[in-house]
Amino acid sequence: MSLNKWINDRLPIDDFVDQHLRHYYAPKNLNFLYFFGSLAMLCLGIQILSGIWLLMYYEPTVETAFDSVEYLMRDIPFGWLLRYTHAAGASAFFVILYMHVYRALLYGSYRKPRELLWLLGLFLLILVMAESYTGYILPWGQMSYWAAKVIMNIFGSIPVIGPPLMHLIQGDYVISEATLQRFFAFHVVVFPMVLLGVVFIHLCALHTVGSNNPDGIEIKDNLDKDGIPVDGVPFHPYFTIKDIVAAVVFLIIFFAVIFYDPTFHGLILEKENFIPADPLVTPPEIKPTWYLAPYYAILRAVPDQLLGALAMLASLFIFAFMPWLDRAPVKSMRYKGTRSRVSLFLFVVSFLSLMVLGLLPATPTNTILARIATIVFFGFFLTLPYITVYDNHKTPPDRVRM
Ligand code: HEM
Repeated sequence: MSLNKWINDRLPIDDFVDQHLRHYYAPKNLNFLYFFGSLAMLCLGIQILSGIWLLMYYEPTVETAFDSVEYLMRDIPFGWLLRYTHAAGASAFFVILYMHVYRALLYGSYRKPRELLWLLGLFLLILVMAESYTGYILPWGQMSYWAAKVIMNIFGSIPVIGPPLMHLIQGDYVISEATLQRFFAFHVVVFPMVLLGVVFIHLCALHTVGSNNPDGIEIKDNLDKDGIPVDGVPFHPYFTIKDIVAAVVFLIIFFAVIFYDPTFHGLILEKENFIPADPLVTPPEIKPTWYLAPYYAILRAVPDQLLGALAMLASLFIFAFMPWLDRAPVKSMRYKGTRSRVSLFLFVVSFLSLMVLGLLPATPTNTILARIATIVFFGFFLTLPYITVYDNHKTPPDRVRM
């Protein structure tokens, strides 16, 4: 009896691969925007692997954290590569995730029957944010400390439950070693484990309903006599090979950044974070990392701190309502009318503007611009039920277009 048969009699790996790769039919018209899901998995893999290696040198105490990271960067062979891979990996993860979400908005991938897939995705986005926020405090640099303080103050500003909640998260009355150690525990154990579990469920949900496509047509509605979608092709080898090409292109760009501009002019790692944390010296400007900057800009745009915190939370959770706010008879932007297209365009412009404004000082002009961008951002969601109904949609074809 071969080893393969012995294993498969006890653990049906071949059946699993058949069912989810060789006999999983994906629409044949998927374009490059469909690479970003597998690239997100690649990013998660890079973060977990580089994170395990960083753990071999990192020491999570207020006395040693900063020095252990500097020691790794200067004295350990290729230690700099390890740290920059992890730091740049966080930024790359968000570029990929934002493209992944944009694809879903473009082709209506959040619509029935993919609502749960979308909600699980949103949960993943929030988890990745929590993961990067807790990771950011670990090197115990100036920005680690002060960015943590800003977020803790937001929690503290919630009426009644705010202060006890803040103390619970911090583990102390101030940001201290207790905070560093609980953030460390969440960053290296809790969040990665939950992330892996939720990614698995995200994929289970995807394989239950099947992929959407740029035409927004359900390929399962058009089956041949064997019950196979006429517009589907086996995921393996047709899309596995394309995903590998995408991974190679991604890795070339990723390592080009790491080798030639690893801090990316302060966007990946800010220069303040090369200074050890000092609770007595506030940095001239406290700013978040670029991928959290849009939410920070919304927080600052609202004059009241509590309302600002609520608006910031709402800017994330409002995405959960997308499947029910979009009432268009078609899914994909290819067949939606001009109003829907302009509305999505303005939303993207408002999001990118908020990102830039969140990184700039809050001057009076910037504050006014951030307020306008915040109104446009929320306006996209609030007007969606009307725009998607009263629009000049086209009739999609019966079969997908190549
Ligand atoms: C750790 C983060 C994530 C990973 C590893 C991941 C992985 C994947 C993969 C591999 C696919 C199939 C390939 C593709 O369609 O691109 C997929 C599809 C999908 N994901 Fe994610 N995803 C993540 C986060 C998100 C987020 C943040 C959202 C939205 C808020 C989301 C929403 C979706 C949707 C709607 C689909 C189906 C798209 C379609 O069929 O058109 N995912 N995801």
